[in-house]
Amino acid sequence: MAEETTISLFCGAGGMSLGFAQAGLKPLIAADHDQDACLTYEQNIGLKPFHTDLNEPSADFLAAIDAAHDPLALIGGPPCQGFSSAGQKNADDKRNRLIFAYLGLVERLKPKWFLFENVEGLLTSNRGKSVFLLAKKFIELGYLIRIEKVNFASFGLPQGRKRVIILGNRLGVAFQFPIPQFSFNSGKHKNINSLPPGPTLADAIFPLGQASDKMEDAVPYRSPAPENDYDARMRAGSSTFRQHTTTPTQTQAAAIAALKPGQTMQHLPEAYWPKSFKRRAYRRVKDGTPTEKRGGAPSGLKRLQGQLASLTITSAAAREFIHPVFNRPLTYRECARLQSFPDHFNFAGSNQSIATQIGNAFPAMAAQVFAEHIARIDSSFGADRNVTRSGLIDYELTRATAMSPPLAQTDTLLASLSDKQIGFSLLTA
Ligand SMILES: C[S@@+](CC[C@H](N)C(=O)[O-])C[C@H]1O[C@@H](n2cnc3c(N)ncnc32)[C@H](O)[C@@H]1O
Repeated sequence: MAEETTISLFCGAGGMSLGFAQAGLKPLIAADHDQDACLTYEQNIGLKPFHTDLNEPSADFLAAIDAAHDPLALIGGPPCQGFSSAGQKNADDKRNRLIFAYLGLVERLKPKWFLFENVEGLLTSNRGKSVFLLAKKFIELGYLIRIEKVNFASFGLPQGRKRVIILGNRLGVAFQFPIPQFSFNSGKHKNINSLPPGPTLADAIFPLGQASDKMEDAVPYRSPAPENDYDARMRAGSSTFRQHTTTPTQTQAAAIAALKPGQTMQHLPEAYWPKSFKRRAYRRVKDGTPTEKRGGAPSGLKRLQGQLASLTITSAAAREFIHPVFNRPLTYRECARLQSFPDHFNFAGSNQSIATQIGNAFPAMAAQVFAEHIARIDSSFGADRNVTRSGLIDYELTRATAMSPPLAQTDTLLASLSDKQIGFSLLTA
């Protein structure tokens, strides 16, 4: 398996690539348009990504793609605004271009497998048409696909993080997703079952101890020996680590000190609210429009709870997520650990760029589970693995017990693609 070719598009800092490399599938080509992410990737994964806008990929990137013979997998998905209803087939519509560019690369490369990742919103974007058209295209390109909403905490990530994954192979052979290994509770996301409980936020970050003043300081661990399995995995033999510092927050010191574990800015008296938060809160009250419709929940400080899994790490986590015990936001290293980047993995760029790279990442731990899964299924194809099938006959249809109306709409659209061609499960993860 080690010499199999995998290609990472929209590679970012390299979370997905790291997980694939940990499973013995190190990407041979990577690309992203963010300079800092490319540098982080190169310094940690040991491969220089093509620094290119994948809307208009550079000639040298395309030449490398054309020279990659019969790759095992194309990994990574474009950030997706969704197909506009007016421009479903219009590759010139700006919002569609990245998706079409991505599909063009799948067509050009014909990888045996692809792993496409996106945010949950993909499932309900444009009344389900985005995921429907995407699925239809993959099927037209000869892939048998499976779409699932996955919570990475079920693979042992100390963080509730839901993403939509579309996995496909062009051999027409049906498959399942990796089986969940852990139960979890992040407060917002929970799945408490008979599986062993996954690591908590405390397991993940308490061994790092007090923050340091400078990004470049080499900080010793709170105790010389690993304190738990997750800590041992993150240390991976390191005796010190860097980037264990936080964004300055003098203006919010009083609010931070007042917050109890599990509380957010909304729990505090208005006297603690900064102007920007007040503006947002009042706007909500005035016209009653949910803030989600405005493009995101109101930002504000939240103190995390050590005994739970972390809330989802975004680019705002290093500003807004307060440590359960210390009166400060999480450090970049703590955020990186919650995304399962090992402690030797350092990030390039400004503090904001680092926070974005970490928040954007596909957790390496989950990527490793998927990579091992793909490799295992692929090796069972035997001689068939060089064949592309046109008949896409295997499927498994799993119905959710309770679906929101927008998700039910998506469900109907996907079902219309023919339940003989597509296996999907929109169960809440
Ligand atoms: C969700 S992140 C991917 C994270 C990555 N898979 C990982 O595991 O760390 C999306 C990435 O797409 C990149 N991106 C967005 N638009 C792009 C474009 N037009 N061309 C190339 N890269 C782009 C961003 O710079 C970002 O790194």
